[in-house]
Amino acid sequence: METEATPNKRFQFHDMDVAVHRNTFARDVAIGLTAPQKWLPPKYFYDQRGSQIYEQICALPEYYLYRAELEILSTYAAEIHAEIGHLALVEFGSGYARKTRYLLAAYEWAGQPFRYCPVDISREILWDTANRLVQEYTHIEISAMHTDFAGEPEVIQAFQLEKKAVAFFGSSLGNFTPEESVEFLRRTAAILGPEDVFLLGIDLKKSPAILVPAYDDAQGVTAAFNQNVLHRINYELGGQFDPQTFEHVALYNAERGRIEMHLRSRLPQHVPIAKIEQAISFRKDETIHTESSYKYTANEVRDLGHRANLVLRRTWFDARRYFLVALFQSH
Ligand code: AVJ
Repeated sequence: METEATPNKRFQFHDMDVAVHRNTFARDVAIGLTAPQKWLPPKYFYDQRGSQIYEQICALPEYYLYRAELEILSTYAAEIHAEIGHLALVEFGSGYARKTRYLLAAYEWAGQPFRYCPVDISREILWDTANRLVQEYTHIEISAMHTDFAGEPEVIQAFQLEKKAVAFFGSSLGNFTPEESVEFLRRTAAILGPEDVFLLGIDLKKSPAILVPAYDDAQGVTAAFNQNVLHRINYELGGQFDPQTFEHVALYNAERGRIEMHLRSRLPQHVPIAKIEQAISFRKDETIHTESSYKYTANEVRDLGHRANLVLRRTWFDARRYFLVALFQSH
């Protein structure tokens, strides 16, 4: 871990993966694109451009997820803050922390110093967001961590917090399979003390007529988001993709309870990728599965927690019951 100089003494920045990233990307691309069903891990959407496109997605009329969770956090911030107390707040996948701000404001209004520990895979966004927050909130103390936490929630132990609230908003847990989710939650639960809490923001099951357009918007912003991963392979790994030759596909797999995003090759083609020293062949209509976004019922969320040794303590919904923020405690 590297701890870097920052412009404010209430702002610490830890970089957990300084050089490993590029090799991991090449390895994951080589593994994914040589599998029988080609696939890519969704975390690679979030380079700087991808993160900006995701921000645009959140403003789309079809993408209700962002606004539903925002509604919950803005309506119930004081209640949530009262429920979790003044615990240090650790957030997995903090991004621009736009929804979290409501919770941070509740901490700020309490008039006491508080610690916010955002963890994110996008280095620049994490840095800028933390830097901005430390200027806006006088009582905040920030310890930011740049890392890919998905395979290792234990990274947050590096913050050495005595007591903490751990938040995972944005329905990002939905990118894991249910089995991976239980594993991630169980490992998170294992590092929670008796007074610590876990806050989960997760999208709920609903009609495909609402779900599918959220991932296949009329303006094609989600299509650009999906294709951006091919641009990224071009820039970072010397790929020769023409992203326009891959059509954006979003579908609801009801059996598995998940939205799937794919990139479908419009024609047969071979695409050289210099850094993995091979060319990838595509049949016409062959797809790369780029994302799964699992949807749950409130009962299924309780059950996921239960299988991970987490006890559901409270739930908050938006008015339409599209989205859920759940508060858990460890056993
Ligand atoms: C960030 C995982 C919650 O699954 O809705 C948005 C990402 N993908 N549009 C989601 C996403 C396509 C998003 N999560």
